[in-house]
Parts: sequence; structure tokens; C-alpha cells
Amino acid sequence: MTGMGLLFNTAADAATKTLDGQAIFDRNCTVCHAMNPPPKSAPPIIGVISQYHNKFQTKEDGLNHLVAYLKLPKKQDAVEPQAITRFGLMPPSPLSESELKAVAGWVWDQYNPAMGACGGFRGQGRMNKSCN
Ligand code: HEC
Repeated sequence: MTGMGLLFNTAADAATKTLDGQAIFDRNCTVCHAMNPPPKSAPPIIGVISQYHNKFQTKEDGLNHLVAYLKLPKKQDAVEPQAITRFGLMPPSPLSESELKAVAGWVWDQYNPAMGACGGFRGQGRMNKSCN
């Protein structure tokens, strides 16, 4: 068990080291997503990722959902479905699986616990009114 875990972690670490999640974000996501409010043509990342931290207990679960969403956004899978009403559905990302994992990992780590699990930008970046 521990042996397997070690092997798995080493492979994952190697993948994140060769691919810079922030650089991928800057090149592929900032055209629509700002980090902080005001929004561009998509919800600001800082609010969205708070919702992810609120909904998923582990980084692994959060990243699995996030990578699947980036590949093929579906309304029923959205953590912030209200954002679709406001901005329209996000187009599927053309990035590879390993690029998506790297960028999702970076985005996940942008969460700032000091802002609270619901983002702290009431009525701006945060559209899930049930998140209180
Ligand atoms: C062409 C514009 C566009 C690009 C490029 C784009 N997004 Fe989005 N994204 C959106 C829109 C619009 C939404 C809100 C509607 C939705 O959730 O589908 C969204 C929603 C999201 C969400 C919330 C999903 C949820 O569960 O509610 C995340 C996280 C996200 N984007 C991350 C990214 C990342 C990371 C990239 C770069 C790899 C990226 N986006 C590139 C437009 C874009």
C-alpha cells in the first residue's frame, strides 16, 4: 500500500514539475477568467475555487471533478451552475490530460482559506447563494 502510494506520488510530482500550471493558466484561461473580480467573460477563479474547496473534501476529488469539467463542461456537473446562466457554458478545453492536471492543481492551490470557504466577494465573483 505505502509502496504503491509512493510510486504514484512520484509519478504525479514529476508531471507537475515538467508542466507549469501557472504558465498554462496564463496562456489558456486568462482570456476569459480573471483571478479576482471584476469578472471578464467568466467567473473569477478565486470565487470558483472556493466553491470547489467547499464541495470537495480532498484535493484528489476536487481535481478529478475539475479536470473532467475542463475537458467537457456540462451544466449538471457545474459547481457554480448560476455562472452558466450569467456567462454561458464554458467551451471544452483543448489541453492534454497532463496539462489539465497541472493547471487544475495550480488553480486548486490558489484558494485562500482566509477568505472563507465561500469566497468573500459577495455578489461579485460568488454566485452560489446557497454557500453561506
Ligand atoms: C472561452 C472562455 C473560457 C476559457 C478559455 C476558459 N474558461 Fe473556464 N469558464 C468559462 C465560463 C463562461 C465559465 C462559467 C460557466 C461554466 O461553468 O461552464 C467557466 C467556468 C469555469 C470553472 C467553474 C466550473 C464549475 O464547476 O462550476 C472553472 C474551475 C474554470 N472555468 C476553469 C478554467 C480553466 C482552468 C481554464 C484554462 C484551462 C479555463 N477555465 C478556460 C469560460 C472559459
